[in-house]
Amino acid sequence: MSEAKFTPRVFSGIQPSGGLTLGNYLGAIKRFVQMQDEAFETIYCMVDLHAITAKLLDPDELRRNTRELAAGFIASGISPDKSILINQSQVPEHAQLAWIFNCIARMGWMSRMTQWKDKAGKNAEAASLGLFAYPALMAADILVYHATHVPVGEDQKQHLELTRDIASKFNHDYGVDFFPITEPVIEGAATRVMSLRDGSKKMSKSDPSDASRINLTDDADAIAKKIRKAKTDPDALPSEADGLENRPEARNLVNIYAALADMSVEEVLREVGGQQFGAFKPRLAELAVEKMAPISSEMARLMDQPDEIDRILAKGAAQAREITAPILRQTYDIVGMLG
Ligand code: AMP
Ligand code: TRP
Repeated sequence: MSEAKFTPRVFSGIQPSGGLTLGNYLGAIKRFVQMQDEAFETIYCMVDLHAITAKLLDPDELRRNTRELAAGFIASGISPDKSILINQSQVPEHAQLAWIFNCIARMGWMSRMTQWKDKAGKNAEAASLGLFAYPALMAADILVYHATHVPVGEDQKQHLELTRDIASKFNHDYGVDFFPITEPVIEGAATRVMSLRDGSKKMSKSDPSDASRINLTDDADAIAKKIRKAKTDPDALPSEADGLENRPEARNLVNIYAALADMSVEEVLREVGGQQFGAFKPRLAELAVEKMAPISSEMARLMDQPDEIDRILAKGAAQAREITAPILRQTYDIVGMLG
């Protein structure tokens, strides 16, 4: 199928499940910001409906998390004038299209999702139906805009493959060329930022150790301290990328440096190869503080203006619905819903 008939359009989302990390920033948000200035329409979303799939949250906490995530997006450089910034539940067509996709996706496809298997754990019987259906809602988030490109971290690759499968099956079953086959955009030195305490684990807001991650709300002191204390090995840094093999902690810190400095790993190693961590860490700490501390102070400023955030999200929802309402209507027509 040709992509040509679809407007180049980017969609991505993050769950307001509390706390943003350097992993979210480098793996996703930084790329979102860049794409605003490329040849795309850009739509970025707080996926609050997804945020209650693993467990129900305290309602006030969910509201707070959603505004904090919006503040994080804006503080990181997402401009409400360049992008449409929305909260998922305020654009009802996402959930409406998700129902149709629940009837397209097969149980077998959903049961093979590794995120489902990880999150449901041993007691899948006790998991919510929403957790199982999560990837169909994600497909609806994307396809209700006919989005062509989706920037995400490595961990979302399988969900994007499922999104393509859902679009293809819909197009095939109804004999139409209606939904685009979306391209994942998984790029950069830091598509998988690892824990600062254990280079084999993903940096995550749900890790019990706060020292394992840099939060977007951390101030300059906290950022520098966590980098100084990050786990490393006793060897000097190599001069070439091959030398990072089997050195997960070293590789992680070099990847973080490269992503923050907008350099390739090779370029970083050309500069720092041969240095001990005692010399490299202060350098990384300085760079991380320079790039991240302004984001945390801007987030704090925005969080003091919740009405302003709500106004931006209301405007975003109205803009979004101009795109989503006609696409949902056409979908309903294809499926045979009276309108
Ligand atoms: P989540 O916080 O799980 O909703 O993730 C939001 C976005 O951040 C997704 O695109 C993830 O792939 C990305 N992301 C989350 N954690 C990391 C990480 N440690 N490294 C790189 N990307 C990440
Ligand atoms: N599942 C994604 C995550 O946990 C969040 C998400 C929901 C998303 N809908 C999306 C990402 C649509 C990209 C596009 O990170």
